[in-house]
Amino acid sequence: MKNKMNNRNHWKVYKRVSVVFFLAVVALTVVQRGSINMGAPFQLERHGHMDASGRVEPGASPEDSYQGIKSFWKASKRQLMPKARATTQKSRTTEDNNPRTWDVTSSNCSANLNLSSQDWFKSLEENFKQFMLYRHCRYFPMHINHPEKCTGDIYLLMIIKSVATQHDRREVIRKTWGKEQVVGGKKIKTLFLLGKPSSVAERANHQKLVEYEDHIYRDILQWDFLDSFFNLTLKETHFLKWFHTYCPGVRYVFKGDDDVFVSVENIFEFLESTNRAKNLFVGDVIFKASPIRKKENKYYIPLALYNNTHYPPYAGGGGFLMDGTLARRLYWVADTLELYPIDDVFLGMCLEVLQVTPIKHNAFKTFGLVKNKNSKLNREPCFFKSMIVVHKLLPPDLLHMWNLVNSELVCSQKVEIL
Ligand SMILES: *[C@@H]1O[C@H](CO)[C@@H](O)[C@H](O)[C@H]1NC(C)=O
Ligand SMILES: *[C@@H]1O[C@H](CO)[C@@H](O)[C@H](O)[C@H]1NC(C)=O
Ligand SMILES: *[C@@H]1O[C@H](CO)[C@@H](O)[C@H](O)[C@H]1NC(C)=O
Ligand SMILES: *[C@@H]1O[C@H](CO)[C@@H](O)[C@H](O)[C@H]1NC(C)=O
Repeated sequence: MKNKMNNRNHWKVYKRVSVVFFLAVVALTVVQRGSINMGAPFQLERHGHMDASGRVEPGASPEDSYQGIKSFWKASKRQLMPKARATTQKSRTTEDNNPRTWDVTSSNCSANLNLSSQDWFKSLEENFKQFMLYRHCRYFPMHINHPEKCTGDIYLLMIIKSVATQHDRREVIRKTWGKEQVVGGKKIKTLFLLGKPSSVAERANHQKLVEYEDHIYRDILQWDFLDSFFNLTLKETHFLKWFHTYCPGVRYVFKGDDDVFVSVENIFEFLESTNRAKNLFVGDVIFKASPIRKKENKYYIPLALYNNTHYPPYAGGGGFLMDGTLARRLYWVADTLELYPIDDVFLGMCLEVLQVTPIKHNAFKTFGLVKNKNSKLNREPCFFKSMIVVHKLLPPDLLHMWNLVNSELVCSQKVEIL
């Protein structure tokens, strides 16, 4: 009991410290940007040109960021919230004549109370009841949208599942593997996927910060559903719908967690060497996984929800790679299948419908590098240098490992990965 209280106090202090830290980072960023804008507008303009390889991105021009940041607190209500609606009016069209807009405007979806009278439902655990009651609620409106993100040809879109409170993880990812850049003429763009913070206290504290963070970086998509474990599948389906709507010109998608190490260099090397142009879906694939029936396990699934002995092959959600065409086809399937509480298994079910078998690749380590957590290999930069994804690294470790791997690291031999 005492221990619990201690933990709780630690947690409170930790939360407070992280909020203060974030505010400090935000303030610093604003100060830095402000001084660059005021002191050397020419430099920033050139910077904008370089980033977009000759094209200035919207939002990268000095006036834009200068005015934008100064007027944020006044403008946030006007600018941030109606963004999704503002684009509705323009309503550009894609090749297949889908209007390019997020067309869900109401969150009004009531619980399916039909279930309450059924015995199998009554026997479910609370969290599964909650899941079943709202399983039919498929799409929610957007709070923060970036319809402009996929403009032009994009080679690689990095999609990262995150939650409002994990700003420190996003901060490090932006500085390391999630950096938006052009490599050999190929554009890389990054987006974070968020729902609503799950506790009321967090919502009050963090929503404004998330909006501010997005105002600075313009890399957050946020939907109006609660960020909970079972709602991760909603994040998957919402992303697929979003991608289908806005991103006709994206070649490849990397999708992963916000606590992984990723080597963009190795992703490029892999993509350039692969001879599979269609139906590319590669990751840490598990074949013939059995649903977990132990109630205390995080991934427990009652028989009432899934009664087959095996799951279809699926890639660990920590990080996988797919081609844009397949992602657009996955949208159609995900839109028709009943939602399943485990997001990566759900995607495996969708692939099965498309008769696409995901490819297992040893450079994706979403279930850990080696089984023994204390093994020295978990800290060995030469291993990371030859990997594509490694789970799991928290911000300080990620930054440290990133710096090691990208230093003059001498490895006796690149481990064969491709
Ligand atoms: C939400 O749904 C309920 C029940 O379907 C309905 O009574 C109510 O009017 C709806 N509210 C809005 C704002 O649409
Ligand atoms: C609930 O039951 C009624 C009557 O059987 C049915 O018409 C309705 O579609 C059901 N609602 C849902 C959400 O399944
Ligand atoms: C998922 O999000 C919706 C919308 O916020 C919420 O009603 C529902 O309870 C959430 N489901 C779970 C299982 O957390
Ligand atoms: C398995 O689940 C399906 C779909 O929920 C159901 O139709 C079928 O009767 C179940 N089979 C057994 C053996 O429980």
